[in-house]
Amino acid sequence: MPTQIEPALLTELRGRLRTARRVFVLTGAGVSAESGVPTFRGGGQSGVWKGMPFDAISSYRMLQSDLPALWEWFDYRRNLLRDLRPNPAHLTLAAWQEKFAHLCLATQNVDGLHTAAGSRDVHELHGNIWTARCTQCDARESLREETNVTGAAMGATDAATGARERPPVCRSCGNAMRPDVVLFGEMLPAGVFEQAAEGAAACDLCFVVGTSSLVYPAMRLPEIALEAGAYTVEINPEATPFSALCHAAIQGRAGEVLPQLDY
Ligand code: OAD
Repeated sequence: MPTQIEPALLTELRGRLRTARRVFVLTGAGVSAESGVPTFRGGGQSGVWKGMPFDAISSYRMLQSDLPALWEWFDYRRNLLRDLRPNPAHLTLAAWQEKFAHLCLATQNVDGLHTAAGSRDVHELHGNIWTARCTQCDARESLREETNVTGAAMGATDAATGARERPPVCRSCGNAMRPDVVLFGEMLPAGVFEQAAEGAAACDLCFVVGTSSLVYPAMRLPEIALEAGAYTVEINPEATPFSALCHAAIQGRAGEVLPQLDY
């Protein structure tokens, strides 16, 4: 049965949305779950790929020790995403951009689905899976043109699929490229957290959607909003460490809850 929001809470939230001046939203893997993107955690389980926990393969250690394996994992993730479309949660948040003079949207997702839904200036805290970055000169190249990548063993660009060799060689300096995503053990891209934190500190209404609220420093952003006096709302079918701190925890699916909040 679709998520039912308690009527008094629905009235309260619609009222707050009508009068809010600055809105901050943090999203995580759960906002893309209804598009078909697997979450990392949730349902009592953590993601495993080829016998490895996702946080071991998505790590700086793996970048240093086995770059082809890192590419293989992200190629696998990218292939899962290739045909997926934004869901009503992404579309509702994109529409909010037109409703509020100030909407700051920060995401931990690397899937690009907020932008595909029409959101602008998304703060991508953990990078973007559709871009490669040179390990030496930081040049970036899009991976969007590749239609399918089936493994790490390719030696050269595949004319049929447009897929580059793995790891791709930087066209600027000839060094190996890496996925342009933040790995466990790495810092966030310069400035992106700070910009999101400014949005969180300045907001009067904050939504935390589809994140387990376990990964630092993103998990700090809703706390910053809370400390600054904002009304905070969590949307997640499961309880998280933030559930007990926020003003309203709605246990439900983002694609069902967010459209109901529209006033
Ligand atoms: P997680 O996989 O940790 O958590 C996903 C959350 O989404 C869980 O709390 C689920 O209960 C919830 N969820 C599932 N379906 C949902 C739905 N339909 N609507 C709303 N919520 C739903 O994902 P993140 O919190 O995003 O980082 O994970 C944070 C970071 O850990 C990721 O960005 C990634 C990962 O390792 C890096 O790779 C650096």
